[in-house]
Amino acid sequence: MTIRFDEKVAIVTGAGGGLGRVYAHKLAERGAKVVVNDLGGPIDKESPNALRAADAVVKEIMDMGGEAIASFDSVADAEGAAKIVDTALGTYGKLDILINNAGNLFQAPFTDMPIEQYQALINVHLFGAIYMTRAALEPMRTNGYGRVVYTSSGSGLVGFNGQAVYGATKTAMVGFQNCLLLEEANRDILFNTLVPTADSRMSAGILPEHLRGFLTPENVSPAVVWMASDACNVNGKILVAGGGFFGAVELVRSKGVLIDPTRPITVEMYDEKFAELSDMRDATPYMANMTNLENRLKERGFL
Ligand code: NAI
Repeated sequence: MTIRFDEKVAIVTGAGGGLGRVYAHKLAERGAKVVVNDLGGPIDKESPNALRAADAVVKEIMDMGGEAIASFDSVADAEGAAKIVDTALGTYGKLDILINNAGNLFQAPFTDMPIEQYQALINVHLFGAIYMTRAALEPMRTNGYGRVVYTSSGSGLVGFNGQAVYGATKTAMVGFQNCLLLEEANRDILFNTLVPTADSRMSAGILPEHLRGFLTPENVSPAVVWMASDACNVNGKILVAGGGFFGAVELVRSKGVLIDPTRPITVEMYDEKFAELSDMRDATPYMANMTNLENRLKERGFL
């Protein structure tokens, strides 16, 4: 099946370079009208040339016959996010796709990093996704359609030296989408999270040299384009893409143990059972705590 975006309107945040630029290109190539958002500038602060990045990407898209408009507002404040969505609505009349890709990075041992840098990371990655979603949801509801993509990172899911706060914000995307999708369950609005790896300004100096050639943004983009499309029929997934590898990540839980809850449970009993309760060999997808508990209590005759 050919995947097309004719009549679809997309916002890609942080699309002035790196991964976002390629997502914007790929969506536009397949017919989407794209708001190319980026406040521009270097990785850690605004530059005097701030407006150039998004403009350049719009020009590239127009030159190849696509439709796009630049947006220079920041995702990191509610007003900026609302303006980005207004750009889509004002120019193209609706919003179908939101790719939350904008990002900044400061890297330092946790206790060495100035507090302002914690805040800047949280503002862009966490509040950026929150504000953009807040602004985008109403038009998507009106539209009866939405595809929302968040960007997580291996930094949070497995850890990375010097990226504690960055990693925390990236893993927060998973909790955010898990709750949102319940609220939007009756609508055709789907939320999925990408875990990318690509050679970009942000990952410069971090990726192993012998793998860099494979780690192009183009080799991530099919996963994002799919998540943004009608072909996407999944909700709340965490999908990994990088260097030609594509996969999915899931939270799992050990089989665990049920200790008689009608009698006092001591820490020594917990200690004694620890090896068994944390044995992951029979792990299954993590489901709601109450469902699991109910099943286990029934199995043991407590209910
Ligand atoms: P990049 O630095 O090339 O692109 C990020 C873009 O976001 C920049 O153009 C920047 O100007 C823009 N931006 C920053 N703050 C903004 C704001 N407040 N409002 C609007 N735009 C803003 O980096 P890259 O690698 O393309 O990163 C894209 C996303 O992927 C980021 O969210 C990053 O955290 C994530 N990521 C990247 C990985 C990689 O291997 N490159 C690994 C894991 C996650």
